[in-house]
Amino acid sequence: MSNQCERAVELLSGARRVVALTGAGMSQESGVPTFRDAQTGLWERYDPTELATAAAFQHNPARVFGWYLWRWQLVRKVAPHAGHRALAALVRAFDELVVVTQNVDGLHRRAGSPDVTELHGSIDAFRCFDQGHPYDPAGLESLELPESGEVQPPECHVCGSPVRPGVVWFGEFLPQDALERACRVVTECDALLVIGTSALVYPAADLPNLGLSSGATVIEINPQRTPLTPRVRLSWPASAGAALPALSAALGQPVAP
Ligand code: OAD
Repeated sequence: MSNQCERAVELLSGARRVVALTGAGMSQESGVPTFRDAQTGLWERYDPTELATAAAFQHNPARVFGWYLWRWQLVRKVAPHAGHRALAALVRAFDELVVVTQNVDGLHRRAGSPDVTELHGSIDAFRCFDQGHPYDPAGLESLELPESGEVQPPECHVCGSPVRPGVVWFGEFLPQDALERACRVVTECDALLVIGTSALVYPAADLPNLGLSSGATVIEINPQRTPLTPRVRLSWPASAGAALPALSAALGQPVAP
């Protein structure tokens, strides 16, 4: 067992309520690109202001819709990795383990985590732009993306407004119930695992601060340092796919590789 794993087990001994706050790094080993990693991050190649705002969608709906359709199709093709499964298995090691995620890919649920709060929505939950009527994306599965990457959004069957992805864009409010629950569980938990997030995007980036000021033991799992690193009890510089299976095995909940 690595020193960091031993230390994590020590810090988690006696913890009953645990929260895992995850970001894009959590899904990286499933083949979903992160946003800010040098070279491979999506925001290295794409300008978020042209893709991840309501104004961008209004200005060029085909470009924005096509980009999300590409990500939606990608996410459907990939599978949760051993780190996702280890986090799901860790539920059995504590009284409560809530996953609070910034990811929109649904991989925690697919891995079997029973209690997942999605702060930034879900890429599966298409809805119309004007009124939020839900839209069933089944027909979009086989749609071939053109070279331009641009796809005109379908129209809402109820009101005719263009269909948008069900994710939170920059400048939009987070779903209130999700944010409230996240704040509550982070305030009440004994330990907070912060996994694969650059801890730069608010309000999610404030959750570790809330945990710290409420007395939670904060453990960060991330191969890179973040603004949070100097303030955590343990910085475990490893990937989610390496650290979490090691941790779950050390806590008596092994998962297959
Ligand atoms: P980022 O792309 O900002 O950060 C990813 C973090 O994951 C970095 O700190 C990496 O070092 C780390 N990382 C990379 N590979 C990893 C691995 N295999 N295991 C563990 N960690 C790894 O992603 P987020 O912090 O999730 O929002 O970004 C937050 C939000 O910004 C996203 O939800 C998205 C984005 O813009 C919206 O689109 C609204």
